[in-house]
Amino acid sequence: MTATAPVIDIRDVTRTYGQGPPALAEVTLSVRAGEALAVLGPSGSGKSTLLNLIAGLDRPNAGSVTVAGLRVDGLSEAGSARYRRATIGMVFQFFNLLDDLTVTDNVLLPAQLAGVHRAEARRRAAGLLEYLRIDRHAAAYPGRLSGGERQRVAVARALMNRPALLLADEPTGALDSASGEDVRELLTELNAEGQTIILVTHDLGLAESCATRTVELVDGRIVRDTTHATAVAR
Ligand SMILES: Nc1ncnc2c1ncn2[C@@H]1O[C@H](COP(=O)(O)OP(=O)(O)OP(=O)(O)O)[C@@H](O)[C@H]1O
Ligand SMILES: [Mg+2]
Repeated sequence: MTATAPVIDIRDVTRTYGQGPPALAEVTLSVRAGEALAVLGPSGSGKSTLLNLIAGLDRPNAGSVTVAGLRVDGLSEAGSARYRRATIGMVFQFFNLLDDLTVTDNVLLPAQLAGVHRAEARRRAAGLLEYLRIDRHAAAYPGRLSGGERQRVAVARALMNRPALLLADEPTGALDSASGEDVRELLTELNAEGQTIILVTHDLGLAESCATRTVELVDGRIVRDTTHATAVAR
């Protein structure tokens, strides 16, 4: 891959479910390394569908999805799991942490699945927990943490395998405004350090503070694509 090749190259992608109208219709989208892309749009406009296609969790009916030089729309289940472990970090609205594992063990999990050497994985996890200011909760169980702290753990887990892409679906959707602000700052900082981020959100504040580019979906089509010189808050 050359330095100028896009990290995400989506061409003419259509995804339909059953007899309904397409969840995504002939979407073409290219995202470069270092962008923080916010995907906006009303409920049902296809935002999560787009994220799932990028993550290889779903397949289009037509078109191609290429991420970091790899065609991900035709991968086998095992191939797609391997691709996600190597390339993708995901953060969800409801954290999706394992409640019977400690914070540290939650964060270690992706590295263990990827076969990273244990000592190296522990080093990385400790570094991430410190960077995300949750190191004092390393031995705690997620159920004891606040929503904002849980989301930080989820971000640490997502970053564990140093993903080319961080995908986030409504990462502030379940947080109060102070915790939401915390996660906003964190994502903005990660992007400033070079992390490519794709963010689905209804939170215009999050889009404005974090995103370098916004794409708006309506009825499965991109109706607006705006690049900001820098994120508004910077
Ligand atoms: N697994 C599925 N089976 C059937 N229809 C689906 C499925 N997933 C999504 N859809 C439909 O595809 C369309 C787009 O859904 P999607 O989840 O991508 O919307 P969204 O923009 O993420 O909405 P929200 O903001 O509510 O999360 C909707 O009409 C939805 O009902
Ligand atoms: Mg959604």
